[in-house]
Amino acid sequence: TSGTSTLTKRVLLAAPRGYCAGVDRAVVAVEKALETYGAPVYVRKEIVHNKYVVETLSERGAIFVNETDEVPEGARLVFSAHGVSPAVRESAAARSLDTIDATCPLVTKVHKEAVRFAKDDYDILLIGHTGHEEVEGTAGEAPDHVQVVNSPDEVDQVTVRDPDKVVWISQTTLSVDETMETVRRLREKFPSLQDPPSDDICYATQNRQVAVKKLSPDCDVVIVVGSANSSNSVRLVEVALQAGARSAYRVDRSTEIDEAWLEGATTIGVTSGASVPEILVRDVLTLLERRGFDDVQEVRTATEDLMFSLPRELRAGLKAAG
Ligand code: F3S
Repeated sequence: TSGTSTLTKRVLLAAPRGYCAGVDRAVVAVEKALETYGAPVYVRKEIVHNKYVVETLSERGAIFVNETDEVPEGARLVFSAHGVSPAVRESAAARSLDTIDATCPLVTKVHKEAVRFAKDDYDILLIGHTGHEEVEGTAGEAPDHVQVVNSPDEVDQVTVRDPDKVVWISQTTLSVDETMETVRRLREKFPSLQDPPSDDICYATQNRQVAVKKLSPDCDVVIVVGSANSSNSVRLVEVALQAGARSAYRVDRSTEIDEAWLEGATTIGVTSGASVPEILVRDVLTLLERRGFDDVQEVRTATEDLMFSLPRELRAGLKAAG
């Protein structure tokens, strides 16, 4: 070998990364609604937690609102992938809005569990982040029975009416590992804590974390593409650091990459959150290629083949439109 370093600069690209099935469906639902009915199509909350997706759909005629009362009577409104509470559905109906429900079917399953356990008068412990749209929607199904548990540390403060009638459910975008630590602590406190049906679990978040964990020990830098309000994207940075990446950063777009991060680096990991379109990852790879990181190796830890059909109301509309 020569005296100078001959190390090639390489990129380890995580797989799975990016869009999960529920996000893909929600974004396509808004696109199809725009094609079928024309602009404007109103969307309650960010359809998925990604800035680029929201900006691109806005340019095409989607109007994002925070609440149903911002939507003109009788207009068309899409509910986001994160789901809505019954109160939101009622207020949409009261304004005669034509709604398209893009709630992820896995989130809907959790809603149904909340309703069922509330009917049986359980205390329902919802593991998730207070204030997250999904948590608000799920808790709204049974506000008198649900309490939110944000982290294992909060378990000490949880009180229930009857410790023999307690069940946990969770926000879908937490990883199974994170959730299970809270469950373990809850079960110490309430030994007869009941588990929800196991087919409620969404593996998308877990799969993305496992992939980044695998490549991180070999990386000088890990770049996570995702927005600041995407909890699973933010978490991927923490997971990369814990798994041994020398440094890790979240960026919304390639333009946010600081050249200083790349100095002296030979291996760069790249991944993206569940709400991130692949085009943003491609932009990052192009930028890295220009800096000499042209050897891209995919590190795959799982294959995902889950697919959901479009929202029912939209399928009916597409059919009618021929
Ligand atoms: Fe649904 Fe899981 Fe994605 S719950 S929106 S498929 S992260």
